[in-house]
Amino acid sequence: MREKRYNAIITGVGMYVPEKIYDNAYFEKIVDTNDEWIRTRTGIKERRILDKGGTSVLATKAAEDLLKSKNMSADEIDVIIVATVTPDMFFPATACLVQENIGAVNAWGFDLSAACSGFLFAFQTGCSLVESGDYKKVMVIGADKMSSIVDYTDRNNCILFGDAGAAVLIEPTEDKNYGLQDSLLRVDGSGKDVLNMKGGGSLNPPTHETVNNNMHVLFQEGKAVFKVAVKGMADISYDLMKKNNLTGDDIAYLVPHQANLRIIGATAERMGISQDKVMINIDRYGNTTAATIPSCLAEYYRAGKVKKGDKIILSAFGAGFTWGASYLVWSMD
Ligand code: UT7
Repeated sequence: MREKRYNAIITGVGMYVPEKIYDNAYFEKIVDTNDEWIRTRTGIKERRILDKGGTSVLATKAAEDLLKSKNMSADEIDVIIVATVTPDMFFPATACLVQENIGAVNAWGFDLSAACSGFLFAFQTGCSLVESGDYKKVMVIGADKMSSIVDYTDRNNCILFGDAGAAVLIEPTEDKNYGLQDSLLRVDGSGKDVLNMKGGGSLNPPTHETVNNNMHVLFQEGKAVFKVAVKGMADISYDLMKKNNLTGDDIAYLVPHQANLRIIGATAERMGISQDKVMINIDRYGNTTAATIPSCLAEYYRAGKVKKGDKIILSAFGAGFTWGASYLVWSMD
């Protein structure tokens, strides 16, 4: 990697999940499924559902939580990046709505669309802005109201997803021992046919026909995605460790995208990381798309489980396909 002017460190975390819960018993009532199948095939016990408002509600509350925990004023923020595939509207960007809601009067910002890898890609983008020396306080938010695009008659997919928002603040440091050290990120558009939402965009603008054909919901061929996700996430995480001369013993935490406990387990195994060093919240929230990784970071840090100097690998796989891994050294006490 080229020599950087500054390193980018995480200096704050925040998160929000709505109160309403859909547990596995709820799905037993609406589709042909059962608690045992869901738990053993996915690791999910329950998910949170946002009744009122769009993704900006989740993103705003996560941002407010972060600001409150740091006792920081929103006018200090330079940039807001919101990773989401469920924006309130195509435009304006959800980042603009968050900016207004929190009163970040000096910020610019934008949305980034990379599905389940959204936070990872937004985190890299935010870090690069900080590393350049051009921006000092970048808020990166991962938020998705997945319940707005889930087909609750599709038993293959409806049991998987939940709603959440989570945020990190990124700032510069001259100490190169901390913060983002390296990333490997990839996209491969040949995956577009097995995980997508076909309707609503410029290819298939909304019509009665697109609605009748159920084109405004998430479509996923689970088995096909599972195979590439296991390999994609495990290989890239392993490659990043090798590139940085790390072994499983060096790593304090793997923070994987929470799509399926079996994918997470396979990734950890390939990296030689024991399960107790893997951040997990899929059991309580399901797959919250862009919010999985930052919500894990927020929960584990606040529980006192993450220490300054801990070596951490973030890893994700999602629609696109998009995937990647980032290696960082935690800098907060
Ligand atoms: O986050 C973005 C990336 N996404 C992912 O990484 C998700 C990847 N995919 C997966 O996590 C898994 O493929 C699923 C959890 C979606 C499905 O698990 P699976 O072990 O791949 O199951 P399957 O699709 O092969 O289905 C096995 C059986 C089928 O029945 P038959 O054909 O064997 O009789 C399904 O019809 O399980 C059936 N099935 C269900 N049974 C009870 C599918 N969904 C359900 C359900 N309840 N909800």
